[in-house]
Amino acid sequence: MTRNESETWKGLYRAANQDGEPVMPTEPLPFVEDVAAFLETHDHETVLEAAVGEGRNSQRLVREVADLHGCDVSADALETCGKRCNGRIETREDDVRALSYETGAFDATVLFDALTHMRSVELVLRELTRVTRPEGHLVFNVPTDDDEATESATLTNDYGLFREYEYDVDGHEVVYIVLTDLDAFSSLLSSFGLAVRDIQRYTWTDPPHPPYRLRRHEHKNLLFYTQRID
Ligand SMILES: C[S@@+](CC[C@H](N)C(=O)[O-])C[C@H]1O[C@@H](n2cnc3c(N)ncnc32)[C@H](O)[C@@H]1O
Repeated sequence: MTRNESETWKGLYRAANQDGEPVMPTEPLPFVEDVAAFLETHDHETVLEAAVGEGRNSQRLVREVADLHGCDVSADALETCGKRCNGRIETREDDVRALSYETGAFDATVLFDALTHMRSVELVLRELTRVTRPEGHLVFNVPTDDDEATESATLTNDYGLFREYEYDVDGHEVVYIVLTDLDAFSSLLSSFGLAVRDIQRYTWTDPPHPPYRLRRHEHKNLLFYTQRID
């Protein structure tokens, strides 16, 4: 069983850097265009993209965001991210469960394709809320239980509002958390001082991206736009 999910990612990126091939697809996620427009509409200038990875999304966000920051546990991934953004992102090796940024440092924080890989969902959301300024926004996506990954993974925990799967089909033990109870999750967010302003559903297909996913696969996700209201 995967003991420390962030160590899995560091290992994947380290191997990828040696091979010269990225771990994740290089195109931005399909909803990043909408998020970029949202950030621009709200005049959010100082934005943190947490668990930024190799910067597939940051390369799009830097076009709208004047002061973009990115953090990740993997130094290898951050190196690729910096190159992809032509240095127009300030990166930091940091753990999203215990961020080193100041409280209220950002107009907005975003987290893409990453909450699903973190067992400490509540801790991560609390930390992202902390570093977002009052009235600022936190935007993130999370898969639902009809996501294809659940069909080829082992159910390892049922937490009530989330289920945890371990996807090890292709030899890499990656944790997948999927959302099973939207109402309970919305209540959880409001207990952190986050109001849900909008939820959008996205379905997309990714090509194989070895070594992590060897087959073509479909994603089913909800994108949450939340606002810090305390
Ligand atoms: C599926 S990748 C997504 C990366 C990027 N957001 C993207 O869309 O390509 C998940 C990312 O979460 C990062 N990660 C995992 N645990 C983390 C933690 N505790 N703190 C910060 N980043 C973490 C991994 O290193 C990896 O870059």
